[in-house]
Amino acid sequence: MTQQFPENDTQNLPGQQRSGQERLVDAEVEPEDKAIEAALRPKALDDFVGQKRVRQQLSLVLEASKLRGKSADHVLLSGPPGLGKTTLAMIIAEEMGSPLRISSGPAIQHSGDLAAILSSLTPGEVLFLDEIHRMSRPAEEMLYMAMEDFRVDIVVGKGAGATSIPLELPSFTLVGATTRAGLLPGPLRDRFGFTGHLEFYDVDELELVLRRSAGLLDLKITTEGFHEIASRSRGTPRIANRLLRRVRDWALVHSVDDIDARAAATALDMYEVDSKGLDRLDRSVLESLIHKFGGGPVGLSTLAIAVGEETETVETVAEPYLVREGLMGRTPRGRVALPSAWVHLDLEPPES
Ligand SMILES: Nc1ncnc2c1ncn2[C@@H]1O[C@H](COP(=O)(O)OP(=O)(O)OP(=O)(O)O)[C@@H](O)[C@H]1O
Ligand SMILES: [Mg+2]
Repeated sequence: MTQQFPENDTQNLPGQQRSGQERLVDAEVEPEDKAIEAALRPKALDDFVGQKRVRQQLSLVLEASKLRGKSADHVLLSGPPGLGKTTLAMIIAEEMGSPLRISSGPAIQHSGDLAAILSSLTPGEVLFLDEIHRMSRPAEEMLYMAMEDFRVDIVVGKGAGATSIPLELPSFTLVGATTRAGLLPGPLRDRFGFTGHLEFYDVDELELVLRRSAGLLDLKITTEGFHEIASRSRGTPRIANRLLRRVRDWALVHSVDDIDARAAATALDMYEVDSKGLDRLDRSVLESLIHKFGGGPVGLSTLAIAVGEETETVETVAEPYLVREGLMGRTPRGRVALPSAWVHLDLEPPES
């Protein structure tokens, strides 16, 4: 059976029109991701794809604590958005057979907020603090003592009449997650018994993530189809799952049952996610750099004007991935297109 895909497909599919703020290839979680992410999250360490080192080390930590019959060491998970920190935190609680309490740095602005959470923990409970680098200073200091001695001092009253009441806590396991490990103060970092740094996934690993998700969503996709989607997912499972949903929509609208590489590519091209996972903004940055400035070097603000975007958008939204992929370089004299950028845009790189 040959499938015909129209070249200029103008059907309206969900998520097609996205502003610069809401990109298909953004690794940050978006409202539409939340429900589906919960459904696609692996629940056991064995189902968690990739991150082999972190997985092995974590498995050891959990195994040892089970043998000792004590709650596991505190765990810090760091790494870029969408790589599985929240997922691992949930797996830790699941594997320990412990209840999980979830809160986050921004939600804990006063030490009292933290005291309320800590004092209501049950023995062995896992406390997940997301974005732990955004906790307030006083709360952070209270956390030091809680992590080390399972005890906090609660200050009652103000000024000269203030007294502190020591409060014993049940033993618990803190799982902290951060996208900015560098922002964590040393004393806090040192109190974690285990730190796992999550890395971007390679294409093979993302294929496995996609295979698993496709199984749960009941989608039929060929090996090459998975490869095509994985290659466009920027090393990030969250993006892979999001692209998979867009491909699913496309296949549904076009009555395609068996999604092969060509179908996946046609669908994602239509959503303007190219073979390396660049979207319209990324490509227009590269195209301006090459066509308007001969590949640079050109100053960031000039480049931004040429693209018609804010300087900050170019710097924080497009640039990190272009640099990571070796398509663009930053030099003291400005931004430059690297040879692979020319190749990616089907152009001949200049001699020099
Ligand atoms: N190793 C993995 N195997 C399978 N699925 C994964 C894996 N890592 C992440 N995912 C999927 O990617 C999605 C995002 O993962 P998660 O929410 O854990 O990321 P995160 O690191 O907590 O991101 P953020 O920094 O935005 O909080 C989840 O739906 C999860 O199913
Ligand atoms: Mg998270």
